[in-house]
Amino acid sequence: MKHVVVLTGAGMSAESGLKTFRDANGLWEGHDIMKVATAEGFSKNPELVLEFYNQRRKQLLQVNPNSAHHALSALEKTHKVTIITQNVDDLHERAGSKNILHLHGELLKVRSTVDDSHIYNWKHDLSLGDLCEKGSQLRPHIVWFGEPVPLISQAIEICKSADSLLIIGTSLQVYPAASLVQYVPPEKDIFYIDPKPIMALNKHVTIISEKATTGVQKVIDELTKYN
Ligand code: APR
Repeated sequence: MKHVVVLTGAGMSAESGLKTFRDANGLWEGHDIMKVATAEGFSKNPELVLEFYNQRRKQLLQVNPNSAHHALSALEKTHKVTIITQNVDDLHERAGSKNILHLHGELLKVRSTVDDSHIYNWKHDLSLGDLCEKGSQLRPHIVWFGEPVPLISQAIEICKSADSLLIIGTSLQVYPAASLVQYVPPEKDIFYIDPKPIMALNKHVTIISEKATTGVQKVIDELTKYN
């Protein structure tokens, strides 16, 4: 089976009803990144940070995967599919995709602030005083700005083994995720589906300036035509 690697960003989940970060009216317009998405922000005002992610978690539990999530899951019938997502939602999982790497963490998990290996499933609000089994405060299982991205080496290896790469709904502003495209072997096809794609990719890329729900289906029709 051909290996399709998929790199998704917030635009993947936009039609499910989750806001992106950098679009007009996006999350970073209404919230200060430094205050809600850094370790410094968390130590200065943990309540604010916990409330920001509590809101995100509540919203996530009210939305569903869209047809693009489902189309990627169905592609597993004919292709080996690995999804590398920058998204912290679980919509790829709920659509039924099997191989998913969450580069920036997961909203429905929390972890110990003293031991990264203590990770717990979490569906309700997280508050000050919610402790791990070692007795220290729990934090969202999210990779904040300035923190290392533990799964990046695994993601690089996955990209090296791609027969094609689909980039969906990301502004490619955040590194190291944005650099993954460079690891796909030069002769392989790369498709970039985004209504407002950045044009700075220095590789040959087929750009599909559409929303995820229409653009993903077009690319999948193309991939399965020659299967
Ligand atoms: N379908 C596809 N793409 C869409 C749609 C849609 N319906 N609506 C918007 N988009 C595109 C936008 O044009 C934009 O290019 O989704 C992209 C969203 O970009 P960002 O908001 O920057 O989100 P993302 O690239 O995922 O951000 C990366 O930044 O804040 C951090 O950790 C956070 O994982 C996130 C990372």
